[in-house]
Amino acid sequence: MAKTISLTSGRLIEQVLPFVNLNQLSRKEAGFIRIPKIHNIHTWFARRPAGPSRILTLYSVLPSNVNVSSLERITGINNALSKNTVIYMTKPDRDSIKKIVLETTRRDVNNITVVDPMAGGGSIPLESLRLGFRTIAVEYNPVAYLVLKATIEFPAKYADSGLFEETVKAARELMERARRELGEYFGVNSKSYIYARGVKCFSCGGLIPVEGVSPEITRDPSFKKRYLRINFDEKKKTFTVETLDEKVERKSLEKRGLNIKCPYCNQWLQLRGKYKTGQTLFDRWFMEHSTIMKSIVEDLEEITSDLEDEITRIHIPLIRRVEDMFKPTWNDEDEMKRFRKALKDLSREVLELQEYIPLDEILKDNKWASTARNKGLTKWYMLFNPRQLLTIAKLARMVAEIADEQFSRNGEMGAAVALYLAFAVDKMADYNTVATKWQGSQFKTGIGNTMRGESTIDFRLEYAEGGLNPPELSLGWTLELDIAESKDFSKTAGGILPALKYLCNEFRGSGLGDRISVYLADATRLSELLGFGSVDVVNVDPPYFEQVIYSDKSEFFWVLLRRSLRPVLEVLFKPGLRLSNWSWSNSSVPREREIVAFDKEDKNGRFRRFFKEFVGETYKVLRDDGILLLWFTHPTDLAWRTVGESLYEAGYIVSRVWPVVTEMETRYKKHVNVIAQRTSLIIVARKTPRSVLRDVGGDIARSLLSNEIFSKVAEEVVGDTRRISKEAFLSPADVITLVFGSALALASRFEIPGSRNFQPLFESASTKVLELFVEPIINEILTGSGPVKLDRRESSIILEYIKEAMLRDPAVRAYLTLWLLSRIDLEKATIRSDVLPLSYDFAQTISKLLGYSLDKLKSTGLISESVVEEESKEDEEENSGERGGKAFYPRLFEALTVSGAKVHLGELLTLIPGKAIYLAYQALKCSGAPNTRAEILRNKLVTWGSKEIADASSIAILLLETARDKDLGFSEIKGLYMFRNDVSQPNFEKELAIRTLVKLLEKIGGESL
Ligand SMILES: C[S@@+](CC[C@H](N)C(=O)[O-])C[C@H]1O[C@@H](n2cnc3c(N)ncnc32)[C@H](O)[C@@H]1O
Repeated sequence: MAKTISLTSGRLIEQVLPFVNLNQLSRKEAGFIRIPKIHNIHTWFARRPAGPSRILTLYSVLPSNVNVSSLERITGINNALSKNTVIYMTKPDRDSIKKIVLETTRRDVNNITVVDPMAGGGSIPLESLRLGFRTIAVEYNPVAYLVLKATIEFPAKYADSGLFEETVKAARELMERARRELGEYFGVNSKSYIYARGVKCFSCGGLIPVEGVSPEITRDPSFKKRYLRINFDEKKKTFTVETLDEKVERKSLEKRGLNIKCPYCNQWLQLRGKYKTGQTLFDRWFMEHSTIMKSIVEDLEEITSDLEDEITRIHIPLIRRVEDMFKPTWNDEDEMKRFRKALKDLSREVLELQEYIPLDEILKDNKWASTARNKGLTKWYMLFNPRQLLTIAKLARMVAEIADEQFSRNGEMGAAVALYLAFAVDKMADYNTVATKWQGSQFKTGIGNTMRGESTIDFRLEYAEGGLNPPELSLGWTLELDIAESKDFSKTAGGILPALKYLCNEFRGSGLGDRISVYLADATRLSELLGFGSVDVVNVDPPYFEQVIYSDKSEFFWVLLRRSLRPVLEVLFKPGLRLSNWSWSNSSVPREREIVAFDKEDKNGRFRRFFKEFVGETYKVLRDDGILLLWFTHPTDLAWRTVGESLYEAGYIVSRVWPVVTEMETRYKKHVNVIAQRTSLIIVARKTPRSVLRDVGGDIARSLLSNEIFSKVAEEVVGDTRRISKEAFLSPADVITLVFGSALALASRFEIPGSRNFQPLFESASTKVLELFVEPIINEILTGSGPVKLDRRESSIILEYIKEAMLRDPAVRAYLTLWLLSRIDLEKATIRSDVLPLSYDFAQTISKLLGYSLDKLKSTGLISESVVEEESKEDEEENSGERGGKAFYPRLFEALTVSGAKVHLGELLTLIPGKAIYLAYQALKCSGAPNTRAEILRNKLVTWGSKEIADASSIAILLLETARDKDLGFSEIKGLYMFRNDVSQPNFEKELAIRTLVKLLEKIGGESL
């Protein structure tokens, strides 16, 4: 007989984790803005908090018998909890860690290897190094590779050689040169500019400044209230721009959907969207802009006064911010002169600047930039207006010159210095494109921000730009020289130098410089890089299917970095480059083996293939007692299956699953009130052999569900899950995620001889775990917290029927789970006063994982959908329709009343949940004592088998126990034909109906309940 696997001799992470404190600190970390975060060094997508990154690694190294009492102190948790700070800002006590590791593992921290094979922005390897472990960070993307070097390797290696001090000097030089070479192109103290896109009316030819700036320019209280008014002269077809103190009610431009009204001739014109027979105004704007940029940059056309007029017609400098005021730019001669000078100088110097202009093509492969490409912006430099391009190219040249000089003086450290400056230029560029956004309530957001939430570059009506006179205004903001030199980090608003200073302080005198290695390599070939069996912990937060296409989004930065860092690219890349078919001279980033999917379904199986290869490789590089930590959230059931299958096929068992807060809440769509998941699962896997279940028969699912060992492990796993979900204050969505994570743990521990297939195991495990999880909740409702209290015997028989139906029938599983989720407080097993709406992704994933499709539940009327509007002010945007979220509600009696009643009812009654709803309804509707009602029902249901009646009655009882009065039509009747609204005692009616169903059960079961 197979034995269950004991994990008690494993690692700490397999037994305990201070996840309650950790989650509290992660939430805090997400809210802490004014700290020198590593994110400030360069944007990267989906950066994880430092807290879990640090603690998970340490707990994976330490054995389970370690005394945990001191750990919260030495890791910094206590400090972060007691003071107004976060784990990132606390120093781990490395001496104590070294001592504990030595005492408990007999190994030196220096010999313990932690690998993050998809290290991204570097939270995991940075914290691993701060603990003192030998750390290897691998990335496939060259921008992330540079970010990793700048964030971890260089501060660790060169803090003692004066990296920070040297960077400050170089930054000062850059600022000085920017003052000399760029200041003149911007008005004095003009911090930022907002441009309108100028289009000509198709009908009257008048120039229309297209902008979506509200009359109230900003709602930010740190600015003076200012209103924008554009005055149109209908006769001359010209306009002037004003900013006023007094309130302006109407927007300057009238808009309706995708159209605008010409302010001169009142003709409605199509601005954006698809135009059947020609071009929209926006199409034309992009075409004119790209044609002009090409003529200056590639065809070297001279700027004549006509061309100058043409450019200022297309790019209309509308208003600008000077200190806390907004002023008009369009009618300001000095400002316009400076803008025109920039155009002329770009044209004059374009040949000298060629090396620094991103002339690279926007590849067709780059889906994120496809919106630009489709509009005719075929090369990256076309994302800039002429002044922006001149600024970026000149800054890139300055950095390249400083890089040259720095390298000859300081070798690799000099290249590092240049890297921080190049990052500053990236950051400037991010906020200086024709896609840079102006958001009324905030200042402005750039491409980097667009990158977070949106799947393609998004062009708004207007765009923004930063000023450089003096350069402190925008370049200074990216670096924050003054704050870095002061002692107070709390003033940082995102600058690079305070973050660098913090990291250098952290590593100064640490001797950790030789314990970190950064590689540009492919995680699906990890063993080629690291060999076999040498790694203690793989701690990895992989991409989640199609959520971010890293290659696409980083390419914007790569085409700039490869220019500003040209003299030192070899120094930066040669030591770590382990990709055979990519070199730093490439104009695009590698993407062939990037582990991403291009659609939610992963249609071509790319993600599944690469992910499996990757997980298999982690198995090879890990020591036999090594631990794999996989960070995972669940966008689709397919993602779940992929992760489960990959771990299983590689040979892992999942020894533990923890819910850990890893996301800023804003990363999720802000569906109002819709349950969405906020935490990731940390899946702990190891190489322990599996239990072989020899006595599992032909119908694997059935025999697994009745298998004793399988059930015993399931009970253990669910016991843990229940405890954790209570302690962690999880949202209902997170609880269910944890339930499926537990199913993964259960399934992965077993093997069925002759079957390598994970699916039946996982499906049975999900069903079993769910059943065990909801059983006490249902029991509590039937006997305690529901309005009608049944006795133990009654409830246990009903529960048995429900459980059996759930195990057997996927529609019952899916419907009841969603029903309970939306109606029951899972923690207290009480009925919610308001139904919780479920997000589409979540409801879909749950039902699919339980073997049923949400669409089928929808088409039979068991689930209904409604649109939840997001708080979006972008109603004029082309794709605004996609922004609202959909909420899903499991239905009760409304399911009986959807249109096409009879036909529909026939279909609904093919499903057990449909039958249950019908029975609940009939039990309420009949009159008389329960026995009489039951008799009437029994006669009505002649075509139903007794099993069906038993299942449906039991589920109907649960539905009646958990439905609100409103759901039953007592207080509100929504199209419920034949129903009564005169019930004065709803609970009495419910009791009658429930007792009726109990009687019915007795009748068909032939026994007295
Ligand atoms: C979720 S992100 C990691 C974020 C990181 N933990 C952080 O805190 O910033 C996943 C990373 O996997 C990288 N990646 C994708 N395919 C890869 C591959 N084949 N090899 C190595 N890294 C890869 C992506 O470039 C991306 O940076």
